[in-house]
Amino acid sequence: MPIVSHIRTFHPRRSRPSTSATFALQNYLDEFLMPPGVWDFQSIYPHHQVILEIGSGMGEAALEFAQKNPDVLLICVEVHTPGVGSLIAKAKESGLPNIRVVVRDAIEVLNDCVPSESLDELRIWFPDPWRKTKHQNRRIISDQFLGLFINKLKVGGRIHTITDWEHYGKQMALVLAQDSRIDCVELVARPNWRPITKFERRGIADGRPIREFIASKKPAN
Ligand SMILES: C[S@@+](CC[C@H](N)C(=O)[O-])C[C@H]1O[C@@H](n2cnc3c(N)ncnc32)[C@H](O)[C@@H]1O
Repeated sequence: MPIVSHIRTFHPRRSRPSTSATFALQNYLDEFLMPPGVWDFQSIYPHHQVILEIGSGMGEAALEFAQKNPDVLLICVEVHTPGVGSLIAKAKESGLPNIRVVVRDAIEVLNDCVPSESLDELRIWFPDPWRKTKHQNRRIISDQFLGLFINKLKVGGRIHTITDWEHYGKQMALVLAQDSRIDCVELVARPNWRPITKFERRGIADGRPIREFIASKKPAN
């Protein structure tokens, strides 16, 4: 499949990894990295549901979810290396076998490594809001990337996304409702199985309402 766009959906950040994250990146990264090339989930991870999380941040929600769901393989794709270091430091400490990481732009990863109709879920929790009008074309939940996301989902597979930015919430509702290949529902409250994330805590503390959507891929006609 051709590259959909070169627009970057993330900010380059300069923060440095903590001491434990640096140690984990130097010593454990290879254990957690997904292999290069196209991933054949059936032969590497049979009997696992596969969830690919775009933008796992510091990884707290990913760790909690992976611990409670051992039958799920959670692939965390994140460009922010200190966050990946922090995630693998804790995953190693807890001996979690069902977390994998990729330190790369998720749009490239989807194009290069993920077969069509292979994912049970694409998880995009609190994506960068890109508040200024001139930057809104960088939002990841948008018409420019939705076709790529839907292509990678199995029939019945889900896009699960959440935001605390009012304008982005309206955009999510519109983009996900308009595509006839998916059925979208908006949740009324956080489901109790879903861990609360760092950015969610910040949004709540600042008094911003949360909007949460799950869009499921329909069978082809
Ligand atoms: C606002 S943070 C949210 C982090 C976490 N999901 C949470 O709720 O705490 C968004 C994260 O997405 C990552 N990100 C954005 N676009 C990405 C992309 N195309 N590929 C990989 N990571 C991306 C950023 O580096 C950032 O860490």
